[in-house]
Amino acid sequence: MDGITVIAHPLVQHKLTIMRDKETSTASFRRLLREISTLLCYEVTRDLDLTTRPIETPMGPMEAPVLEGKKLVFASILRAGNGLLEGMLDLVPAARVAHIGVYRDHETLQPVEYYFKAPEDLENRLVIVVDPMLATGNSAIAAIQQLKARGARNIRFLCLLAAPEGIRNFAEGHPDVPMFTAAIDSKLNEKGYIVPGLGDAGDRMYGTK
Ligand code: URA
Repeated sequence: MDGITVIAHPLVQHKLTIMRDKETSTASFRRLLREISTLLCYEVTRDLDLTTRPIETPMGPMEAPVLEGKKLVFASILRAGNGLLEGMLDLVPAARVAHIGVYRDHETLQPVEYYFKAPEDLENRLVIVVDPMLATGNSAIAAIQQLKARGARNIRFLCLLAAPEGIRNFAEGHPDVPMFTAAIDSKLNEKGYIVPGLGDAGDRMYGTK
């Protein structure tokens, strides 16, 4: 599929299988999500531009590579996005964070927006939007519309699992935003859940129902 990168790293795939297993406990699910998100973050950021700055090592001076440009923004789509956020912040602790509250109305499957808080200066930063499940794609599309309305221009979207329906919908809504996922599953069921999927990511993370 165009516009989407599948992160097929063996550790990602192994951890994802344990997360999918319905016998996996809430504590293990949360820990695995944190671990897997560091690996996904590593892949999503692998082509970031570098510049150099002069430093002194104990042996002498050198021009050493550092990330170019303003600090990254990680934008979490609440609430399940926070599970990906934590591992990403382990890897890029200086990143800025946006929170976007969007939930899916269970009847209509349409996004309902209730919260938005993001750093200033979005136009000059790479914004990586995170949500574990790209199901219909409606929430991610709405969240990215809000980010664009506040100036974001350089955006990537990262999820754990994507459904073909969501990928098509997202690519139509935001053809300029590259998507990254650990796996593309078969389909959505009649309730909008990804099959085979892993169930409700937020519920599995937080032990709710
Ligand atoms: N959100 C989830 O948490 N799981 C799905 O399967 C679809 C949307």
